[in-house]
Amino acid sequence: MKVVGTAEELRSALAGHSGTRGFVPTMGALHAGHERLMAESRARDGHVVVSIFVNPKQFGPNEDLSRYPRPFEADVARCEAAGVDVLFAPDVATMYPPGFTTDVRVTSPWVDRWCGASRPGHFDGVTTVLARLFGLVRADRAYFGQKDFQQWRIVSRLAADLAGPEIVRVPTVREPDGLALSSRNVYLSGENRSVARALSRSLARLLEASREGSPLPDALERERDRLSHTDGLALEYLDVVRVEDLSPVETFGPDRVALVAARVGPARLIDNALMDPAGPDSGLLAYLEETAS
Ligand code: PAJ
Repeated sequence: MKVVGTAEELRSALAGHSGTRGFVPTMGALHAGHERLMAESRARDGHVVVSIFVNPKQFGPNEDLSRYPRPFEADVARCEAAGVDVLFAPDVATMYPPGFTTDVRVTSPWVDRWCGASRPGHFDGVTTVLARLFGLVRADRAYFGQKDFQQWRIVSRLAADLAGPEIVRVPTVREPDGLALSSRNVYLSGENRSVARALSRSLARLLEASREGSPLPDALERERDRLSHTDGLALEYLDVVRVEDLSPVETFGPDRVALVAARVGPARLIDNALMDPAGPDSGLLAYLEETAS
């Protein structure tokens, strides 16, 4: 594996490889979720490129940019073990050289809803860094986690509009108790950690309601109420929306996704589940049987 930091080093590391080039952009603090994206690319592409860059443009003024975990040595080892060919770890000056004044923004109205509403400018930071990364890496495919559903949706638009790579969505990797893996889970205390399980439980109950054909508004109200009354958890939103344009819906269906965001202790957590009982999130139903027993 080649570890490179500058655009020139990246260019020479990319030269001379045949087959498709897969790309997994990350902010580091790698975990099994990131590894799943790498494995997916390793299985499909001739050449796998991973980037690690904690992108200042996507953090708000009161967010966790300075304390975001940066275990670089461990990340290098994980990439090596995952069979990555090139690890691109640029510094801020490489990504945003002096004179950099371009902003890349997807203007669909749903960009400013959900996470876009509570994190103004966040997705513009994501699309700006990805436009530059896509230009530097020039991949055939880029891999994104379903965990960040709205990000995946926005990035799919960006890549289609700017003739970027094919975007592949990879299912969410979870802890054994259902909590979606996230680099920010390290902020959670033991107590926060058990409170956080309520999010995947609520998603599982919505999926069950969908399977049973229950009315969506009732199920949604019940879960919102439950989460709002969970000590140690501040619900930001819970909704069921269309996969296509993230617009709210009144009925269940396989082309719908439940989105949730909440603050638990020092961390802001997000999760989601496709409302297709036979789909990739059907595994969530097992957590309900566990709770019942
Ligand atoms: P980061 O949070 O490091 O995530 C990198 C990729 O890993 C994203 O596509 C994310 O959806 C995916 N991922 C995170 N947790 C996952 C999980 N539990 N299961 C499956 N995939 C998971 O997302 C970003 O970085 C940044 O916004 C980035 C796209 C790199 C732009 O800066």
